[in-house]
Amino acid sequence: MSEASSPVKLERRGHVGVLVLDRPDRRNALSRDALFAIGRLGRELVADPEIRAIVITGAGDKAFCAGADLKERQGMSTDDVRVQVGLYRSELGVLDRSPKPVIAALNGVAFGGGLELALICDLRVAAPHAELSLPETTLGIIPGAGGTQRLPRVVGEARAKEMILLGRRLDAQQALAWGLVNRVSPEGVSVLDDTLTWIEPIANGAPIAQAAALKAIEDSFEVPLELGLELERTRYDETLRSEDRLEALRAFAEKRKPVYQGK
Ligand code: COA
Repeated sequence: MSEASSPVKLERRGHVGVLVLDRPDRRNALSRDALFAIGRLGRELVADPEIRAIVITGAGDKAFCAGADLKERQGMSTDDVRVQVGLYRSELGVLDRSPKPVIAALNGVAFGGGLELALICDLRVAAPHAELSLPETTLGIIPGAGGTQRLPRVVGEARAKEMILLGRRLDAQQALAWGLVNRVSPEGVSVLDDTLTWIEPIANGAPIAQAAALKAIEDSFEVPLELGLELERTRYDETLRSEDRLEALRAFAEKRKPVYQGK
Protein backbone atom coordinates (compact mmCIF):
# COMPACT_ATOMS: atom_id res chain seq x y z
CA MET A 1 0.00 0.00 0.00
CA SER A 2 1.45 3.41 -0.92
CA GLU A 3 1.92 5.92 1.90
CA ALA A 4 -0.56 8.27 0.15
CA SER A 5 -3.40 5.74 0.34
CA SER A 6 -2.54 4.44 3.80
CA PRO A 7 -5.40 4.70 6.32
CA VAL A 8 -2.85 5.75 8.95
CA LYS A 9 -0.18 8.41 8.45
CA LEU A 10 3.09 8.77 10.33
CA GLU A 11 4.56 12.17 11.17
CA ARG A 12 7.81 12.65 13.08
CA ARG A 13 7.96 15.60 15.47
CA GLY A 14 11.43 15.51 17.03
CA HIS A 15 11.55 12.53 19.39
CA VAL A 16 7.80 11.91 19.02
CA GLY A 17 6.19 9.68 16.39
CA VAL A 18 2.63 10.80 15.61
CA LEU A 19 0.22 8.27 14.12
CA VAL A 20 -2.79 9.90 12.46
CA LEU A 21 -5.87 7.77 11.75
CA ASP A 22 -6.76 9.18 8.37
CA ARG A 23 -10.22 8.09 7.20
CA PRO A 24 -12.29 11.17 8.08
CA ASP A 25 -15.09 10.13 5.67
CA ARG A 26 -15.65 7.11 7.92
CA ARG A 27 -14.87 8.99 11.10
CA ASN A 28 -11.48 7.22 11.27
CA ALA A 29 -13.14 3.84 11.88
CA LEU A 30 -10.89 0.80 12.28
CA SER A 31 -10.91 -1.19 9.04
CA ARG A 32 -8.75 -4.27 8.54
CA ASP A 33 -6.18 -2.16 6.63
CA ALA A 34 -6.16 0.47 9.38
CA LEU A 35 -5.42 -2.19 12.02
CA PHE A 36 -2.53 -3.57 9.97
CA ALA A 37 -1.19 -0.05 9.36
CA ILE A 38 -1.25 0.75 13.10
CA GLY A 39 0.64 -2.48 13.78
CA ARG A 40 3.22 -1.89 11.04
CA LEU A 41 3.88 1.78 11.89
CA GLY A 42 3.78 1.06 15.62
CA ARG A 43 6.51 -1.58 15.22
CA GLU A 44 8.57 0.89 13.16
CA LEU A 45 8.34 3.54 15.90
CA VAL A 46 9.08 1.10 18.71
CA ALA A 47 12.23 -0.03 16.86
CA ASP A 48 13.40 3.54 16.06
CA PRO A 49 16.03 4.67 18.60
CA GLU A 50 15.27 8.35 17.85
CA ILE A 51 11.65 7.97 19.01
CA ARG A 52 10.88 8.36 22.73
CA ALA A 53 7.08 8.66 22.69
CA ILE A 54 4.21 7.76 20.37
CA VAL A 55 1.09 9.92 19.99
CA ILE A 56 -2.01 8.63 18.23
CA THR A 57 -4.70 10.97 16.98
CA GLY A 58 -7.32 11.25 14.24
CA ALA A 59 -7.65 13.41 11.12
CA GLY A 60 -10.25 16.19 11.21
CA ASP A 61 -12.00 17.51 14.30
CA LYS A 62 -15.07 15.26 14.40
CA ALA A 63 -13.70 11.88 15.40
CA PHE A 64 -10.63 10.40 17.00
CA CYS A 65 -12.09 7.05 15.96
CA ALA A 66 -15.69 5.82 15.60
CA GLY A 67 -14.67 2.24 16.46
CA ALA A 68 -15.04 -0.79 14.24
CA ASP A 69 -15.71 -0.04 10.58
CA LEU A 70 -19.37 -1.05 10.64
CA LYS A 71 -19.70 -0.83 6.85
CA GLU A 72 -16.81 -3.22 6.29
CA ARG A 73 -18.21 -5.49 9.00
CA GLN A 74 -21.58 -5.77 7.27
CA GLY A 75 -20.00 -7.91 4.56
CA MET A 76 -18.13 -10.17 6.98
CA SER A 77 -18.92 -13.74 8.02
CA THR A 78 -18.83 -14.71 11.72
CA ASP A 79 -15.38 -16.21 11.15
CA ASP A 80 -14.16 -13.04 9.42
CA VAL A 81 -15.24 -11.03 12.48
CA ARG A 82 -13.39 -13.47 14.76
CA VAL A 83 -10.22 -12.93 12.72
CA GLN A 84 -10.74 -9.15 12.80
CA VAL A 85 -11.16 -9.17 16.59
CA GLY A 86 -7.88 -11.15 16.75
CA LEU A 87 -6.20 -8.27 14.91
CA TYR A 88 -7.07 -5.93 17.76
CA ARG A 89 -4.92 -8.12 19.96
CA SER A 90 -2.00 -8.57 17.56
CA GLU A 91 -1.87 -5.15 15.85
CA LEU A 92 -3.13 -2.73 18.54
CA GLY A 93 -1.17 -4.91 20.97
CA VAL A 94 2.01 -3.43 19.46
CA LEU A 95 1.10 -0.14 21.16
CA ASP A 96 0.03 -1.92 24.35
CA ARG A 97 3.40 -3.66 24.62
CA SER A 98 5.38 -0.56 23.60
CA PRO A 99 8.20 0.17 26.05
CA LYS A 100 7.86 3.82 24.96
CA PRO A 101 4.95 5.83 26.39
CA VAL A 102 1.93 5.98 24.06
CA ILE A 103 -0.45 8.93 24.34
CA ALA A 104 -3.89 9.33 22.76
CA ALA A 105 -4.82 12.85 21.58
CA LEU A 106 -8.62 12.63 21.28
CA ASN A 107 -9.56 15.20 18.63
CA GLY A 108 -13.25 14.18 18.64
CA VAL A 109 -15.46 11.20 19.47
CA ALA A 110 -13.83 7.99 20.72
CA PHE A 111 -16.48 5.29 20.48
CA GLY A 112 -16.24 1.52 20.78
CA GLY A 113 -12.90 0.29 19.42
CA GLY A 114 -11.83 3.95 19.28
CA LEU A 115 -12.10 4.28 23.04
CA GLU A 116 -10.52 0.85 23.45
CA LEU A 117 -7.58 2.06 21.37
CA ALA A 118 -7.33 5.10 23.65
CA LEU A 119 -7.46 2.79 26.69
CA ILE A 120 -4.46 0.86 25.33
CA CYS A 121 -2.52 4.13 25.54
CA ASP A 122 -0.71 5.15 28.73
CA LEU A 123 -2.14 8.69 28.80
CA ARG A 124 -5.16 10.39 27.21
CA VAL A 125 -5.71 14.05 26.31
CA ALA A 126 -9.16 15.14 25.08
CA ALA A 127 -10.31 18.09 23.00
CA PRO A 128 -13.09 19.98 24.85
CA HIS A 129 -15.70 18.66 22.37
CA ALA A 130 -14.58 15.00 22.55
CA GLU A 131 -17.09 12.35 23.63
CA LEU A 132 -16.22 8.89 24.91
CA SER A 133 -18.38 5.78 24.89
CA LEU A 134 -18.40 1.99 24.68
CA PRO A 135 -21.81 1.47 22.98
CA GLU A 136 -21.24 -2.19 22.01
CA THR A 137 -23.98 -3.71 24.16
CA THR A 138 -26.48 -1.41 22.40
CA LEU A 139 -25.33 -3.10 19.16
CA GLY A 140 -25.77 -6.62 20.51
CA ILE A 141 -22.06 -7.27 21.14
CA ILE A 142 -19.54 -6.46 23.88
CA PRO A 143 -16.29 -4.49 23.72
CA GLY A 144 -13.82 -6.82 21.98
CA ALA A 145 -10.55 -4.90 22.03
CA GLY A 146 -9.88 -5.08 25.76
CA GLY A 147 -12.55 -2.60 26.92
CA THR A 148 -14.11 -4.86 29.54
CA GLN A 149 -10.67 -5.40 31.08
CA ARG A 150 -9.03 -1.98 30.75
CA LEU A 151 -11.96 0.35 31.48
CA PRO A 152 -12.56 -0.97 35.06
CA ARG A 153 -8.82 -0.70 35.76
CA VAL A 154 -8.94 2.98 34.80
CA VAL A 155 -12.31 4.18 36.17
CA GLY A 156 -13.28 1.42 38.64
CA GLU A 157 -15.87 -1.35 38.41
CA ALA A 158 -19.08 0.62 39.01
CA ARG A 159 -18.31 3.36 36.49
CA ALA A 160 -17.15 0.82 33.91
CA LYS A 161 -20.43 -1.05 34.30
CA GLU A 162 -22.34 2.20 33.98
CA MET A 163 -20.58 3.04 30.72
CA ILE A 164 -20.79 -0.46 29.24
CA LEU A 165 -24.29 -1.53 30.33
CA LEU A 166 -25.95 1.84 29.71
CA GLY A 167 -23.85 2.66 26.63
CA ARG A 168 -23.34 6.00 28.38
CA ARG A 169 -21.54 8.80 26.54
CA LEU A 170 -19.17 10.97 28.58
CA ASP A 171 -18.18 14.46 27.52
CA ALA A 172 -14.58 15.55 28.00
CA GLN A 173 -15.12 17.21 31.38
CA GLN A 174 -16.95 14.17 32.77
CA ALA A 175 -14.20 11.91 31.41
CA LEU A 176 -11.67 14.10 33.21
CA ALA A 177 -13.67 13.92 36.45
CA TRP A 178 -13.71 10.11 36.19
CA GLY A 179 -9.99 9.90 35.40
CA LEU A 180 -10.72 8.45 31.96
CA VAL A 181 -8.68 11.23 30.39
CA ASN A 182 -5.70 12.91 32.03
CA ARG A 183 -6.27 16.33 30.56
CA VAL A 184 -8.71 18.43 28.53
CA SER A 185 -7.04 20.82 26.09
CA PRO A 186 -7.94 24.50 26.31
CA GLU A 187 -10.60 25.79 23.86
CA GLY A 188 -9.16 27.01 20.58
CA VAL A 189 -5.91 25.02 20.86
CA SER A 190 -5.32 21.93 18.70
CA VAL A 191 -5.36 18.85 20.91
CA LEU A 192 -2.32 17.49 19.07
CA ASP A 193 -0.25 20.66 19.65
CA ASP A 194 -1.41 20.77 23.27
CA THR A 195 -0.48 17.10 23.73
CA LEU A 196 2.97 17.56 22.19
CA THR A 197 3.68 20.45 24.58
CA TRP A 198 2.27 18.57 27.57
CA ILE A 199 4.44 15.50 26.95
CA GLU A 200 7.70 17.42 26.59
CA PRO A 201 8.94 15.91 29.88
CA ILE A 202 8.61 12.51 28.18
CA ALA A 203 10.05 13.54 24.80
CA ASN A 204 13.04 15.20 26.49
CA GLY A 205 13.17 12.71 29.35
CA ALA A 206 15.40 9.75 30.15
CA PRO A 207 14.15 6.85 27.97
CA ILE A 208 15.52 4.03 30.14
CA ALA A 209 13.80 5.49 33.22
CA GLN A 210 10.56 6.02 31.29
CA ALA A 211 10.50 2.41 30.06
CA ALA A 212 11.43 1.03 33.49
CA ALA A 213 8.70 3.07 35.20
CA LEU A 214 6.08 1.93 32.68
CA LYS A 215 7.02 -1.72 33.09
CA ALA A 216 7.03 -1.47 36.88
CA ILE A 217 3.57 0.14 36.91
CA GLU A 218 2.11 -2.33 34.43
CA ASP A 219 3.49 -5.37 36.26
CA SER A 220 1.83 -4.11 39.45
CA PHE A 221 -1.60 -5.15 38.13
CA GLU A 222 -0.55 -8.78 37.85
CA VAL A 223 1.14 -9.55 41.14
CA PRO A 224 0.82 -9.35 44.95
CA LEU A 225 2.41 -6.26 46.54
CA GLU A 226 5.52 -8.02 47.91
CA LEU A 227 6.41 -9.40 44.49
CA GLY A 228 5.54 -6.02 42.93
CA LEU A 229 8.02 -4.28 45.21
CA GLU A 230 10.65 -6.77 44.16
CA LEU A 231 9.85 -6.08 40.48
CA GLU A 232 10.19 -2.35 41.17
CA ARG A 233 13.65 -2.98 42.66
CA THR A 234 14.68 -4.85 39.49
CA ARG A 235 13.47 -1.98 37.26
CA TYR A 236 15.15 0.59 39.51
CA ASP A 237 18.42 -1.28 39.04
CA GLU A 238 18.17 -0.80 35.26
CA THR A 239 18.15 2.96 35.74
CA LEU A 240 21.01 2.78 38.27
CA ARG A 241 23.26 1.35 35.58
CA SER A 242 22.39 4.05 33.03
CA GLU A 243 24.55 6.94 31.82
CA ASP A 244 21.40 9.13 31.89
CA ARG A 245 21.26 8.90 35.69
CA LEU A 246 24.82 10.22 35.95
CA GLU A 247 23.99 12.98 33.44
CA ALA A 248 21.06 14.04 35.67
CA LEU A 249 23.39 14.36 38.68
CA ARG A 250 25.97 16.32 36.66
CA ALA A 251 23.27 18.63 35.26
CA PHE A 252 21.92 19.29 38.76
CA ALA A 253 25.39 20.19 40.05
CA GLU A 254 26.02 22.42 37.02
CA LYS A 255 22.55 24.07 37.29
CA ARG A 256 21.53 23.17 33.72
CA LYS A 257 18.95 20.96 32.03
CA PRO A 258 20.05 17.35 31.53
CA VAL A 259 20.57 16.05 27.98
CA TYR A 260 19.52 12.42 27.92
CA GLN A 261 20.95 9.95 25.39
CA GLY A 262 18.96 6.86 26.33
CA LYS A 263 22.18 5.10 27.45
N1 COA B 1 -17.90 2.63 10.59
C1 COA B 1 -18.05 2.98 9.29
N2 COA B 1 -18.48 4.18 8.91
C2 COA B 1 -18.77 5.07 9.86
C3 COA B 1 -18.65 4.77 11.24
C4 COA B 1 -18.20 3.47 11.60
N3 COA B 1 -18.02 3.11 12.87
N4 COA B 1 -19.02 5.85 11.96
C5 COA B 1 -19.37 6.79 11.06
N5 COA B 1 -19.23 6.32 9.80
C6 COA B 1 -19.53 7.00 8.54
C7 COA B 1 -21.02 7.25 8.40
O1 COA B 1 -21.68 6.09 7.93
C8 COA B 1 -21.05 8.39 7.42
O2 COA B 1 -20.85 7.89 6.11
P1 COA B 1 -21.83 8.38 4.89
O3 COA B 1 -21.50 9.82 4.73
O4 COA B 1 -21.38 7.52 3.76
O5 COA B 1 -23.23 8.13 5.36
C9 COA B 1 -19.78 9.16 7.80
O6 COA B 1 -18.95 8.29 8.54
C10 COA B 1 -20.09 10.36 8.68
O7 COA B 1 -20.90 9.90 9.75
P2 COA B 1 -22.01 10.83 10.42
O8 COA B 1 -22.81 9.98 11.35
O9 COA B 1 -22.74 11.57 9.34
O10 COA B 1 -21.06 11.86 11.16
P3 COA B 1 -21.26 12.61 12.54
O11 COA B 1 -20.02 13.43 12.71
O12 COA B 1 -22.58 13.28 12.58
O13 COA B 1 -21.29 11.45 13.68
C11 COA B 1 -20.48 9.51 14.87
C12 COA B 1 -20.13 10.68 13.91
C13 COA B 1 -19.17 8.74 15.03
C14 COA B 1 -20.93 10.09 16.20
C15 COA B 1 -21.60 8.63 14.28
O14 COA B 1 -21.28 8.37 12.92
C16 COA B 1 -21.74 7.30 14.98
O15 COA B 1 -22.32 7.23 16.05
N6 COA B 1 -21.16 6.21 14.37
C17 COA B 1 -21.27 4.88 14.91
C18 COA B 1 -20.18 4.71 15.94
C19 COA B 1 -20.32 3.40 16.71
O16 COA B 1 -21.39 2.98 17.12
N7 COA B 1 -19.17 2.77 16.95
C20 COA B 1 -19.07 1.61 17.77
C21 COA B 1 -18.88 0.41 16.98
S1 COA B 1 -18.80 -0.98 18.07
